Amino acid sequence: MEDSKDILVVYYSRTGTTRRVAEALAAELDAELEEVIDTTPRAGALGYIKAGKDALFKKLTGIEEPEKDPADYGLVLVGTPVWASSITPAIRTYLQQNGSGVEQPIFFLTTHGSGIDSTFRQMEELCGREPLATLSLLAREVKKDEYEAKVQAFAEHVRHEVLGQPPGEPA
Ligand SMILES: Cc1cc2nc3c(=O)[nH]c(=O)nc-3n(C[C@H](O)[C@H](O)[C@H](O)COP(=O)(O)O)c2cc1C
Repeated sequence: MEDSKDILVVYYSRTGTTRRVAEALAAELDAELEEVIDTTPRAGALGYIKAGKDALFKKLTGIEEPEKDPADYGLVLVGTPVWASSITPAIRTYLQQNGSGVEQPIFFLTTHGSGIDSTFRQMEELCGREPLATLSLLAREVKKDEYEAKVQAFAEHVRHEVLGQPPGEPA
């Protein structure tokens, strides 16, 4: 393995669900992690209502300057919760600012069950590229720790089908 890693996992998470998936994927793929920080307050009932409205109306938001440049990585996984059947404003903003540097995207999301296709479609439009693979997980399976097998199977798929590694070989 070279010193510089070549996989980046970028994610936004308001309440930790997507973070758990991002961390599990990064561990499975030996990838670096970048959390996108939304500078708009999103906590509490008012934060929730504004979050839904901002997502519905496809608003951008302020995000903290990312530490890593996705263009430096061969493969970039981007993850978001579904809000109002849409991408979150933080990931919308991240992809609008950095999407052109994401040459080989993989998308993942967490959801209560709806908005999967529409959210992936928005991510694809913002990147201007079709994802090499996608993973969607239900928030309830993440909370009940029922997601690890799916993350492992997905990472195995990425290693074989996307990176072309032989079965069983770690990233
Ligand atoms: C403002 C808001 C809007 C949401 N809209 C949807 C939705 O349209 N469909 C859905 O299935 N889940 C929806 N959810 C549920 C989240 O997608 C789900 O809880 C997700 O796993 C949260 O991820 P996080 O813990 O990483 O923030 C919404 C949650 C929030 C906060």
